[in-house]
Amino acid sequence: MKAGVIGYPIQHSKSPVIHQYWLDKHKINGSYQSIEIKPENLEVKIRELVNQGYNGFNVTIPHKENIFKICDEVNEAAKKIGAVNTVVIKDKKLFGTNTDAFGFIQNIKSCQPIDFSKKKALILGAGGASRAIIFGLLEEGVQEIILTNRTIEKAEKLKQLNPQKIKIINWEEKENFLNQVDLLINTTSLGMKDQNPLTINLENLSSKALVTDIVYNPLMTSLLTQAKDRGNPIVTGIGMLLHQARPAFEAWTGIMPEVTKDLEQKVLL
Ligand code: ATR
Repeated sequence: MKAGVIGYPIQHSKSPVIHQYWLDKHKINGSYQSIEIKPENLEVKIRELVNQGYNGFNVTIPHKENIFKICDEVNEAAKKIGAVNTVVIKDKKLFGTNTDAFGFIQNIKSCQPIDFSKKKALILGAGGASRAIIFGLLEEGVQEIILTNRTIEKAEKLKQLNPQKIKIINWEEKENFLNQVDLLINTTSLGMKDQNPLTINLENLSSKALVTDIVYNPLMTSLLTQAKDRGNPIVTGIGMLLHQARPAFEAWTGIMPEVTKDLEQKVLL
């Protein structure tokens, strides 16, 4: 197997650690490299990867959207999410997919059995990650999504994914809706190391509601700590990153790898 992750900058990507772990675990002879590609060189460099016999590559900032026009085919998930994070190369042709929604859903399912069709979710944030998560929840048949974002126009755009199921509320009134939901999901960058914290009063949230955060540095964000302290089930953000990598590894090797605590530890180091 010959694969990698393309981006610019690329040195912070955790993907090489994840894929190398699985290559070692499954005793597969292969390589997974970080490949720095400047935006202006994207097409030329990708043709080089194809000619070098790559099985595919992951895609990160800033190429997730520009890669569309270079792919020969792009699947439904990538189109709806508006970004490609995984490319599979077959017969010199590029097939673009997006595994972020899969990663989010599988992370939750791996922590507890859940029937999303019976759940209402409150989602904080309306950026790229939010779009993938909304797509994933809609695919799972979620009952309702209450969506809020500091910039309301961005939430309005995401509502188009399913106007019947998505309801938009103002950022300032989010706490008033906590008593209506079974899932609380932070998709904003608030709470991330060196960013502002997410300030939210969870008083109105049912103690059975599941709370999850896509931020994983720190792993226990103040949102998750607050939720855990009042007895809510929580799911940390690192699992989304680990699970989104699984379908890519499967596409390149034929093996669907598992997410383990050991892998999580290695990635968090
Ligand atoms: P990603 O791809 O990780 O989703 P993004 O598309 O840049 O990143 O989205 C970042 C999200 O965090 C957005 O919802 C953003 O809100 P805006 O759309 O209003 O910018 C949210 N966010 C970032 N800083 C914020 C802050 N200080 N207060 C509230 N929301 C914030």
